[in-house]
Amino acid sequence: MNFSNKISDLEENHLLRSRRIAKSPQGTVMKIDNQDVVNFCSNDYLSLANHAKIKEALIEGVEKYGAGSGASHLVSGHSDSHKLLEEALAEFTGQESALLFSSGYSANLGIFSALRDEIKWSIQDKLNHASLIDGCRLIGLPIQRYHHNNLESLANKFKKQSGSGLVVTDNVFSMDGDRANISGISKIIDSSNTMLMQDDAHGFGVFDPIIPERSIYMATLGKAAGVMGAFVSGDKDFIEFLIQKSRPYTYTTALPPVLCHAIQMSLEMIKHGEQREKLFKNIKFFRSMASQLGLSFEQSDSAIQPLIIGSSLKALLISNRLFKEGFFVSAIRPPTVPPNSARLRFTLSADHTFEQIESLLEKVNNAMA
Ligand SMILES: Cc1ncc(COP(=O)(O)O)c(C=O)c1O
Repeated sequence: MNFSNKISDLEENHLLRSRRIAKSPQGTVMKIDNQDVVNFCSNDYLSLANHAKIKEALIEGVEKYGAGSGASHLVSGHSDSHKLLEEALAEFTGQESALLFSSGYSANLGIFSALRDEIKWSIQDKLNHASLIDGCRLIGLPIQRYHHNNLESLANKFKKQSGSGLVVTDNVFSMDGDRANISGISKIIDSSNTMLMQDDAHGFGVFDPIIPERSIYMATLGKAAGVMGAFVSGDKDFIEFLIQKSRPYTYTTALPPVLCHAIQMSLEMIKHGEQREKLFKNIKFFRSMASQLGLSFEQSDSAIQPLIIGSSLKALLISNRLFKEGFFVSAIRPPTVPPNSARLRFTLSADHTFEQIESLLEKVNNAMA
C-alpha cells in the first residue's frame, strides 16, 4: 500500500490527473485557475447550466421545496416534484414510466443490480462507458464486448449466448462522439429473452431518442439538461421492478426536489428547440472549419468532436498550450480511452460563437504543426 509510489508511476507515464479550479459558473467563457478561458470541454451542450430561466426555476424551487430531500425515495424523500418530473420524462421519451436516480453512474449500476437474478449474460460495445462495465462487474457477470459499432461482431457474439441476457450500448459514445445503430442492434437481438439497454447520457436533449419496444433507456440530467441526476424509462412493470430491486435506488438519499423543479424547465427548453438549433449550427461550422484547415477529426455529428493524438504526453502538451492561449480543451488519456489513443476531446455548446470556434481551430492548427 505504497500510494506515493503509485502516484509517481502515474506521473512518469503522463497519466496523473489533476483538477483545475473554476471561479465562475459553468459556461462557454469561464475563469479557471485564475485565467479567462473559452471552455470547450463541458457537457453543458445546450448552455443551460447557468441559464437565467433555470436559475429562476431553482430559486422558485428552493422557496417551494427547501434545500434537501432529507431521505431516500422509499422512506420520506419522494416528493411531488420527483413524481411530476418522472411523469414528464416518461412522456418525453414515449415510455410508460420513468424513474429518477441521483446520477448516471448510479442509474447504470442500479439497472444491473436489479437484474442480478434475471440475466445470465451481458454483451457490450467495446467503447461503452465505465459505469456500464462496472455494473456488469457488480453482479459478477463476465465482461463480453463486441467490436465498436460493429453489428456483425455483435451478431456473432449474440448467437453464442443462451438464456436471458442484456445487450448494452452507449447511444452517443462519450469519448468518440459517434452514435450507435440502435435500430440495427434491436433487429439482431429480437428475441423474447434478450433486452436492449441504451445509455443516452450524451444524446438526451440533443438528438430525438430512438427507443425500441421493451428496451431500457437511461439518460442523464447533468449534461444537456444542465442540472444533475439521471433517469431510466421503459415499461411500467420494469420500472416498478427497479423500485423494488435496485439497491443503488433504494439505499441512497433522493435528489433534492428543487433540482427536479429546475429540470422541468430544462425539459421545456429542450422541447422548445432554440438552444438545440444553435448547437447544431455550431457543430456544422466547427466541422467545416476543421476540414478547411485539414485537421483530421473523427467522424461525429454530435457535440463531441475528438482529435486523436496517440501519445498521452503530446495530448497533454497541446492541451496545456491551448490553455495558456485562452482555450480549455481536455486531454483524454488511458485508461479512459484505449492505449495509444490519447486525444483532445472538444465539446461544443449552444452559446459558443463562430468567432470563438474559428480562433480555437486556428490555435489547434498551429499547435499541431
Ligand atoms: C455514457 C455515460 N454514461 C453515464 C455517465 C455517468 O453520468 P453521471 O455523470 O450523471 O454520473 C457518463 C458521464 O460522463 C457518461 O458519459
